[in-house]
Amino acid sequence: MGTGRIAGKFCDMLSMLAEEEPLTIYAVASRDREKAIEFGARYDIAECYGSYEELAADPEVDLIYVATPVGCHYDNVRLCLQAGKHVLCEKTLTEESGQARELYRLAREKQCFLMEAMWMKCHPVFRKIQEWKENGLFGELQGVECRFYTKADRNHRLYKNRNQGGVLYDLVLYPLTYACSLLGYAPGEISAAAAIGGDDIDIMESIQLFYENGAFATLTGGLSPRRQSSLYIQGTRGRVLIDAEEFHSAQRAALIDWDNQVVEEVEEPFACNGYEYEAMEAMECVRQGRAVSGLVPMEDTIRMIELMEACRRRWS
Ligand SMILES: NC(=O)c1ccc[n+]([C@@H]2O[C@H](COP(=O)([O-])OP(=O)(O)OC[C@H]3O[C@@H](n4cnc5c(N)ncnc54)[C@H](OP(=O)(O)O)[C@@H]3O)[C@@H](O)[C@H]2O)c1
Repeated sequence: MGTGRIAGKFCDMLSMLAEEEPLTIYAVASRDREKAIEFGARYDIAECYGSYEELAADPEVDLIYVATPVGCHYDNVRLCLQAGKHVLCEKTLTEESGQARELYRLAREKQCFLMEAMWMKCHPVFRKIQEWKENGLFGELQGVECRFYTKADRNHRLYKNRNQGGVLYDLVLYPLTYACSLLGYAPGEISAAAAIGGDDIDIMESIQLFYENGAFATLTGGLSPRRQSSLYIQGTRGRVLIDAEEFHSAQRAALIDWDNQVVEEVEEPFACNGYEYEAMEAMECVRQGRAVSGLVPMEDTIRMIELMEACRRRWS
């Protein structure tokens, strides 16, 4: 649903995956039939619809990947669920936590699977770092520092308006998700500031999370002339530093102890472009008849939106 940039990357991946997995990119929907036909031709898609309603009504469709802007997700996902379709929806699932709760309730009622497409949480490196935490390899976690800056030209959706873009829901969501997956989703204190650009968009963020055990997270992100990112995790027994152009899609990481010895490392190159992990998770859940994903749990999706609402309240 939607024929934009990420829908293209997702279909590039699905086309590769279809060589090994039993899947078909069967239909595409755009608000403009011509765009759907053009997109469909790129991926050999059988049905090209000129409205989202037609896609949702097609009885042959099992699962819909929603790739529209954040501000549209609530209406688009509701349409799919009401039609009884399983859904994988791009991040952020909804602008408001109440909307996300409502969608998960509707999914349960319709016995449909619903998952936010938080691809990073399905990646091998992210999962390995969680495993190191669970196994106590960091010792006590003391802090997470993360920065994530990206380039966006003036036509980018980030500039459209605050409710449909903004760096909080699009970019800073990743550092926040990393920090919370390691330190917890319920910080004792939150400090958040944003720089608001000319079009009333939050273009830079600075967020600190303080936890009752003394751990804290320092997170920054925004628009910049060049991509810049890094992630640093510190524990009493060791640390991880990912200094990459895109920390959220890193394909290798090492846990180093305080004697500078490598404790464990992970290296797993993507088979496609990194979106394959979330797609396989969604397909596996649907095949097993599960309502939600274990890798991207409903509770985490809702708590993350609540946290971003709390950040927004501090600067809006
Ligand atoms: N996981 C990731 O790595 C990643 C990366 C980038 C973006 N995203 C997420 O993916 C979603 C889409 O991002 P994108 O970069 O693909 O955006 P995009 O290039 O602007 O495409 C969005 C598409 O949504 C459809 N749409 C429906 N209502 C719209 C409206 N009111 N305004 C504009 N477009 C509308 C359009 O398709 P039709 O005209 O065909 O209907 C449009 O092509 C966002 O939720 C974003 O956060 C995820």
